[in-house]
Amino acid sequence: MSINAEEISTLIKQQIESFDADIQVNDVGTVIEVGDGIARAHGLDNAMAGELLEFSNGVMGMAQNLEESNVGIVILGPYTEIKEGDEVRRTGRIMQVPVGDNLLGRVVNPLGQPIDGGRNIETSKTRPIEGAAPGVMDRKSVDEPLQTGIKAIDALVPIGRGQRELIIGDRQTGKTTVAVDTIINQKDQDIISIYVAIGQKESTVRSTAETFRRYGALEKTIIVSAGASDPAPLQYLAPYAGVAMGEEFMYNGKHVLVVFDDLSKQATAYRELSLLLRRPPGREAFPGDVFYIHSRLLERAAKLNDSLGGGSLTALPFVETQAGDISAYIPTNVISITDGQIFLQSDLFFSGVRPAINAGLSVSRVGGSAQIKAMKKVAGTLRLDLASFRELEAFSQFGSDLDKATQAKLNRGQRTVEILKQGLHKPMAVEKQVMSLYALTRGFLDDIPVEDVLRFEEEMNVWMDSNRTELLSSIRETGKLPDEEEMNGAVEAFKKTFLPSNQQ
Ligand SMILES: Nc1ncnc2c1ncn2[C@@H]1O[C@H](COP(=O)(O)OP(=O)(O)OP(=O)(O)O)[C@@H](O)[C@H]1O
Ligand SMILES: [Mg+2]
Repeated sequence: MSINAEEISTLIKQQIESFDADIQVNDVGTVIEVGDGIARAHGLDNAMAGELLEFSNGVMGMAQNLEESNVGIVILGPYTEIKEGDEVRRTGRIMQVPVGDNLLGRVVNPLGQPIDGGRNIETSKTRPIEGAAPGVMDRKSVDEPLQTGIKAIDALVPIGRGQRELIIGDRQTGKTTVAVDTIINQKDQDIISIYVAIGQKESTVRSTAETFRRYGALEKTIIVSAGASDPAPLQYLAPYAGVAMGEEFMYNGKHVLVVFDDLSKQATAYRELSLLLRRPPGREAFPGDVFYIHSRLLERAAKLNDSLGGGSLTALPFVETQAGDISAYIPTNVISITDGQIFLQSDLFFSGVRPAINAGLSVSRVGGSAQIKAMKKVAGTLRLDLASFRELEAFSQFGSDLDKATQAKLNRGQRTVEILKQGLHKPMAVEKQVMSLYALTRGFLDDIPVEDVLRFEEEMNVWMDSNRTELLSSIRETGKLPDEEEMNGAVEAFKKTFLPSNQQ
């Protein structure tokens, strides 16, 4: 066979020409417009939705709007240096974040880069920030408790591993404190925490990290922060980055708690970038798919079945309300997605009931099945008792002479409210919570002045620690309520040593 040199060279020429054209059309585009963190580029016909793109100066962007003649790109970094006419290149990847143990103890941005001034983070693995939620058959029902260490939550609205519980309230009602205390309480438990701070002041995030360090919880925590000064796209992406980091642990059979503080700010950031991308606005000027940004995020919380390792990812989304209005757009959306909500109320907060949990409006749809037996026994009727106390309290303000039974109910109610108060950063172990609630529900506190109730509890904890160690450890280890006689004996023995303030 003879080789025709000319034929080959034309073939090669053709190949080169078409190869060149292919690249030109698909993989490199030109910026035609840029501003406010958004760019439009022409010539990226094959870009995928959500694909990571690289500008010629190294700044990354993400393809959002795929239109006929151009692609709308959100810029994930400083955009002032990007000019009209710059090149923008496809990467063929969708956005990923580094994952793994090396992120623990660090503060990172939504791209997984450290922002705590520490050394680089070496990880061998990454995960796409968007991913499908585990399917129906991959899951198992929630059956293990996630102890927050906050009495009012563990007793009234218990949270199970793999659950999604919304924490909702006005500004300055102690929302962040609930998150921080819950994370602090995980320091001796087998749970890894991820705290996603969205649109918060950098100084606040810093002091949160400092609090974790001070209470020894930082080594088991990752903080993902998109601050108030970061561009809207980063604030929008932060929760997905956090949940992707969490999923890595969950699929390795571990238990993870992810806190989103807060999703209202994320929705606002998403509204901003949607309007800039000229998507049509709907109710409250949010785009039509604002429900989906939260549902696809929170659906990734799960309790996996045993063949997948039995790991779990618990999500605690936060939503800020305006003047207690839980029927606004974002609050109702997130309420309908989650398995319950904890409602923090500002008038309770200012009257000194802290944490300011409104027991009537708070529910947990699955957590009860995850409560330990002892807690169920002592806290079973607490919610109803508290609700009927609130009703009676309102009534009793009108009449002066109350019958004995009503008086006793009011008495107990005041002590219930008192014992559910809890100071800042003082999470309480579950066995101690059981002890306190046992003393309350069995009437041991009825003759203690209300102002002494918290002191009674504190001194009882110390006394039990040194005199009834086995009793505490038996509750902790078996989860069951010990013999009532033994419990009564212990509380009575302590009560003999307690001096109420009116007898001092
Ligand atoms: N249980 C508590 N006991 C005493 N003080 C508390 C308690 N919970 C919160 N606080 C105080 O109340 C203030 C507000 O709390 P926090 O920052 O948690 O509220 P927030 O709802 O997250 O506020 P923001 O709307 O600003 O995010 C803080 O100064 C905090 O120290
Ligand atoms: Mg806060």
